[in-house]
Amino acid sequence: MTLQSKEAATFIQEKLNIEPTVGLILGSGLGVLAEEIENPVIIPYQEIPHFPESTVSGHKGQLVAGQLQGRQVLAMQGRFHYYEGYDMKQVTFPVRVMKEIGIETLFVTNAAGGINKEFEPGNLMVITDHINNMGDNPLMGSNDEELGPRFPDMSEAYDRALIQHAEQSADRLGMQVKKGVYVGNTGPAYETGAEIRMLRILGGDAVGMSTVPEVTAANHAGIRVLGISCISNMAAGILDQPLTHDEVIETTARVREDFLGFVKDLLKTLPA
Ligand code: HPA
Repeated sequence: MTLQSKEAATFIQEKLNIEPTVGLILGSGLGVLAEEIENPVIIPYQEIPHFPESTVSGHKGQLVAGQLQGRQVLAMQGRFHYYEGYDMKQVTFPVRVMKEIGIETLFVTNAAGGINKEFEPGNLMVITDHINNMGDNPLMGSNDEELGPRFPDMSEAYDRALIQHAEQSADRLGMQVKKGVYVGNTGPAYETGAEIRMLRILGGDAVGMSTVPEVTAANHAGIRVLGISCISNMAAGILDQPLTHDEVIETTARVREDFLGFVKDLLKTLPA
């Protein structure tokens, strides 16, 4: 794995004329942020050695590197999901590569269902913590001490200073941004109503099918993480209507300007 991530990193670095330190993983419908990147260098995943390919509609599969709000960023427009059949090592491979490239701060974004009844579709939620409900972990197997410790601490999986930074940013912009716990499920089926009631009791505020693996790998690698969920729908059983991927994409499109404004302000004011 290490050799593979080094090869992928070298391939990417040879195409870049910048040294990005901020990584962005853009979830369902949120890839539009990459379109704002200046002087973009675009690298389709299929060109990168050892990179998997993404398969879901609403997700592009490419890296976009360049400047955003004066920061040198490397964005993933589309990510790899466990439900696509990739294993956890493949899902987190790009995070390993980001580490090799020199990424220190990772913004992870996703679309998620609202478990917390005070939430509404279209809300943005800063992730304060997560629950790994996927029954798997990207760090299973032998540990490479060069990458990180065998038993990494996850007590501040989402960097506290970055959470504060996000709260200040929301205040400055006059935005009502929620905070909460993200539950990572495997999908691809949406949850049942009973599962959502269970997850609420367990302390979840939002639920999705991503993020947990990448955040685990980032913590292992010593990359600090900020997570943002776009609440694209109320989770199963809360409203008397079925869940659809179309609703997820429609809501993320509707809150596009809020999302872009928020992330751009976060980058602009990010402490070095
Ligand atoms: N459940 C799981 N994943 C999701 C949801 C949901 O309700 N909405 C967007 N991704």
